[in-house]
Amino acid sequence: MPWKRRAFGGRGCARALTVADLREVARRRVPGFVFEYVEGGAEDEATLRHNREALASLRFVPQTLTETLGRSLETQLFGRAATAPLVIAPTGLNGMLHPEGDIGLARAAAAFGIPYTLSTLSTTSLEEVAKAGGRLWMQLYVMKNRSIAEDIMARAAQAGYEALVFTSDANVFGSREWDKRNYVRPGKPRLPAALDALRHPRWLVEVLLRNGMPRFRNIEAFLPPGAASAVGGSTIIPQMFEPTIAWTDIAWIRRHWPGKLLIKGVLSVEDAKRAADAGCDGIVLSNHGGRQLDYCVAPIEVLGEIAAAVGDRLTIVVDSGFRRGSDIAKALALGAHAVMLGRATLYGLAADGERGVRRTLEMLTGELDRILGQLGCRSVADLGPSLLR
Ligand SMILES: Cc1cc2nc3c(=O)[nH]c(=O)nc-3n(C[C@H](O)[C@H](O)[C@H](O)COP(=O)(O)O)c2cc1C
Repeated sequence: MPWKRRAFGGRGCARALTVADLREVARRRVPGFVFEYVEGGAEDEATLRHNREALASLRFVPQTLTETLGRSLETQLFGRAATAPLVIAPTGLNGMLHPEGDIGLARAAAAFGIPYTLSTLSTTSLEEVAKAGGRLWMQLYVMKNRSIAEDIMARAAQAGYEALVFTSDANVFGSREWDKRNYVRPGKPRLPAALDALRHPRWLVEVLLRNGMPRFRNIEAFLPPGAASAVGGSTIIPQMFEPTIAWTDIAWIRRHWPGKLLIKGVLSVEDAKRAADAGCDGIVLSNHGGRQLDYCVAPIEVLGEIAAAVGDRLTIVVDSGFRRGSDIAKALALGAHAVMLGRATLYGLAADGERGVRRTLEMLTGELDRILGQLGCRSVADLGPSLLR
């Protein structure tokens, strides 16, 4: 009998070794329509697949016989130390994955010493999340009723959020067909989706029955009746997005936001330069994890040229497809200052709340530390393009 490689068969987080293992635990813990909401991409999902392919296509060229004792992942973000070059990305509807939702993510980030970005479409109010402590960034979606954005900016400034992450790539909302297929009409899941929820009694009790259907707590005061609940709003809210948003609006944001400002969704040198000229502090190179424009370039492909053009003027964060420490090392080598984690930390959350998110962060930082050592680097600052092919 030939020896066989064992696939991950554990049901709980404790035996998970990789983010892929945590994904498997998460998949079992939540109903199919919730997992698909996290997992899916837009249209043909070509962007979604390409994010992984582009990262996988890069290879390391290590330096050998270099002493790497006392390695550190510490990095500076906006003049403050972070224990690793990581940020948790903004994701809406986190309360659908686990009752701890945004609080679980924020606490894990705080415990790890990295920033957490709260989504405009979060299921916990920004004030509640602020009570969890830690370093917080606030993500902004601008809707046709601009007073919603003005209210978010004023409240986030008041609550001590460090940075505003203005998402620029979702004002024409992506077509996530798998999501649409799960609903008959807004707020009404199809029968198979509803029945699948019954097959997940723990989720049903902990997420829906104990706390009630998660709601868009940050903006519920502005939503029409029926749209504030997670199920009712997710199809209505995209229609409320402001399609006229443009570079000229950065001045409007600046008038309302005193803290650091990043634009999320930049993918070209021209736009990166515009962001720097407009007085932004940073950019997030992102294709929204493949959930918006299909057949889009992967951020890792354009990172090198953008870092060369504006890396000395802007903090460069990158996301979309990061699942391993090796992925993170590649981005840092190409000039990113930090990587944002989207689904990777959501798998941890769905698998085991705050504890699961900590597991994700431990796995990724453990992998990154090992890769630094294998590449002959002592710190993330030692990573550079010469280590990549
Ligand atoms: C379930 C889910 C919800 C998201 N919600 C938001 C959001 O509310 N605002 C935002 O700017 N980006 C949102 N994103 C995009 C993430 O911030 C991030 O760009 C993306 O997840 C990175 O790709 P990755 O998941 O492959 O790491 C969401 C992504 C996912 C998976």
